[in-house]
Parts: sequence; C-alpha cells; structure tokens
Amino acid sequence: MMVKATFLEQVPLARNFLDLNDAGGNAIAAMLNDAQDRKFARAGWPKGKADADAPLAGYVLAMVFEKNSTRTRASFDIAMRQLGGSVMIIDSGTSQLGRGESIADTARVLSRMADVIMLRTDDHAKIEEMAHFAQVPVINGLTDRSHPCQIVADLLTIIEKGKALPGLELAWFGDGNNVLHSILEAAGLMKFNVRIATPAGYEPDQEFVNLARAGGARVLLTQDATEAAAGADVVITDTWISMGQENVGKKLEAMAPYQVTPALMALAKPDASFLHCLPAHIGEEVSAEVFESQQSAVFDEAENRIHAQKSILLWATGKL
Ligand code: CP
Ligand code: NVA
Repeated sequence: MMVKATFLEQVPLARNFLDLNDAGGNAIAAMLNDAQDRKFARAGWPKGKADADAPLAGYVLAMVFEKNSTRTRASFDIAMRQLGGSVMIIDSGTSQLGRGESIADTARVLSRMADVIMLRTDDHAKIEEMAHFAQVPVINGLTDRSHPCQIVADLLTIIEKGKALPGLELAWFGDGNNVLHSILEAAGLMKFNVRIATPAGYEPDQEFVNLARAGGARVLLTQDATEAAAGADVVITDTWISMGQENVGKKLEAMAPYQVTPALMALAKPDASFLHCLPAHIGEEVSAEVFESQQSAVFDEAENRIHAQKSILLWATGKL
C-alpha cells in the first residue's frame, strides 16, 4: 500500500471572488459582456431552464448563510439552474456552524461535497479563512466590509440603461457601508467617479477611497447632499442600518438629511437612474415617490443579480 505525504497547509487551487480586485477590471468587463449575452440569449425562457450550453452541468454550489438573505439566496439558486448545475444551502442556525464548528473545517468538508462555495457572513476575516482552507472557489455573498456580487449587478444595470462606465458620475447618499466599499473598488477598476454624501462620522473606510483614487477615479466626500446630487448619472443609497448593527437611534437621526427625495433627484441628470440593493426602508433612506418612480431601476437591479452571478460563477470556475 502506498502512503501519501500529508500536506500541513491547505493551498487554494481556485479563483476566489472575495472582492472585485480579485478579478480586476478586464475580468469584470468580460463578466458584464457575458452577462448581457446570456441574458439576451434566454429572453422569455422559463426561469429554471438551463442555457443552451449548460456550462456548469454537474457542478454544485454550496451557499452558506450566517445572515439573512432573499436576493442573494434566490439569485444564486436560479443562476446555478440556468448554468446547468445545482445548489445546497447551509444555514448557520440549522448547521454545526451555529454550534461552533470552525470555518476551517467547514471549508474542508464542503470542498469535498461542492464545486464552489458562497459565504454570507459578518466578519470579513471569516471569508478569508474560508478561502484559505477551501480547495474550491469561494465567493463573497456579503460581509460587513464588502458586497462585490451586488456591484457587478449594479454595473450591469447601469450599462443596460445606456450609460458607459468610464467617466460616469455616481452619487451615494447615507451610510458609508459595505455596499459603498465595493462601489469604490469598482470605481477604480472601471474608471467612474463617486460623490459620497454622508453625515460626519459615517464616511466609508479611507482604504476604499484610496483604492478608488489610486485607480484614477475622482471621489468627492461631502456632508452636503445637494453637492453630491448635482449632475449625477446614477443616484444610489442603501439601508441606514446594516445587518448586525446596534445602537441605531443616534444614527437614524444623523442620516435624516440624506434621504433620496424627488427634490434630490431633480438635481441629478434628467435621465439619472435610482438604484438600491434592497431591502429598502421607505421613508428612511428613500421616499416612496422616488422608489416607485420611472427613474427607479431597483427591480431590474434585483433581477440582474442572477445574470451577474452567472458570470461570476463562470469566472470563478475558470470558464470565463
Ligand atoms: N441585495 C441583497 O444582497 O439582498 P439580500 O440581502 O436579500 O440577499
Ligand atoms: N448594507 C446592507 C446590505 C444588505 C444587502 C447590509 O449589510 O445589511
């Protein structure tokens, strides 16, 4: 009998998508093109029917959730069906993760049972640990630090509305959170500009501002919502209170002047789109009028989670 050597450390063999920089600008451009082509080619088909080439036939995606989700969960599920593969869902509350089993062991077990792992969690260090120990690609389905899958869907939505990314003026209102961090990362890679209006003390991490600027993006940080909105191509916001945040009373008060209202939208370009990753809190970060307006593209954006993630899955598995 042959005794094989034991490896002391796991070496990832796969392409991880923990942040947009893992892919880079060219790969994101390829994802956006592939997503548009696949979306067009299957227009009008039943949602669960596989694409003609079924490129991930036989592949299994394990989705691990340590936080709630509607869109990420549903869109990855339908994305895998359309690519010809299937999914398994591991909720922390009903799995051994919820009883303290380590991320490292979970990564090594799931690598034997699935071809790709998606994780939604709180601390970004947990997804880095998952990627370190997994032997299959790991995709970030949201952490406290970033939400890269959302931003590929947002860029797809912007392009579909007829706007090119280089030179685009995107305006963000409210909390400097995980979604904004991934927007800033995208700005440096895809060469668009970001105006950010937040209350003092709620700015994004400077690391992401620096990353955008290093990539050639112009980034404006202001406490004046009207300054950020003037002439914008895209107006975007998100919940003022992200999952897991506490002591919210003071924060809600500080955020009040940053609600996206018809008056704010009127300062943007007439053809500006309104985006929101959802779930929305009407009357907090956005008014009902804007959310339900012609300029609101929030449900196209939600659908595009499917199309964007198909391309992310193809990139992670080395097929794009
Ligand atoms: N936008 C987003 O990630 O939605 P879910 O939290 O419902 O997955
Ligand atoms: N910033 C939000 C995004 C939800 C999709 C959160 O982290 O809760």
